[in-house]
Amino acid sequence: MPLPENEVFPLIGEAGFEHLVAAFYRQIPTDDLLGPLYPPSDFAGAEKRLRDFLIYRFGGPDRYLHERGSPHLRMRHAPFAIPQAARDRWMLLMNNALEEVRIPLEPAATLRNFFEDAATFLINRRG
Ligand code: HEM
Repeated sequence: MPLPENEVFPLIGEAGFEHLVAAFYRQIPTDDLLGPLYPPSDFAGAEKRLRDFLIYRFGGPDRYLHERGSPHLRMRHAPFAIPQAARDRWMLLMNNALEEVRIPLEPAATLRNFFEDAATFLINRRG
């Protein structure tokens, strides 16, 4: 049985998500495919938005909802071209981050399943 999503936050806490998302974003500015999509003057803001979303989604405090409202992830990603290749690169960088921060096996598997499905759901261009 996979670990339920709302049990991830109690296991890895704010620090787990902070380290994970920091390790992910550290790779973005120099990534040829994804780097150009992110707001160059607001990497820190983008990092906070993803961190707060994940904390809320996986059983932690719901700061994201108060500050950003409903996630509507497909709508919020509509301005960015996300073909399969961008989705796969995003997953590669997130898998690198999961390995780098050594999240324990069970919560890491639950996070990876979510990321795989959500990233596929966000594909919005052919090619
Ligand atoms: C599991 C997959 C993903 C999740 C959970 C996710 C989550 C998020 C969240 C929560 C935001 C901030 C939304 C807001 O409050 O404004 C965001 C922004 C963004 N995402 Fe994703 N995303 C995913 C996949 C992708 C992929 C595949 C791309 C590919 C290019 C991408 C590119 C971006 C960009 C460029 C932004 C704008 C940065 C910002 O200003 O916040 N995302 N994403």
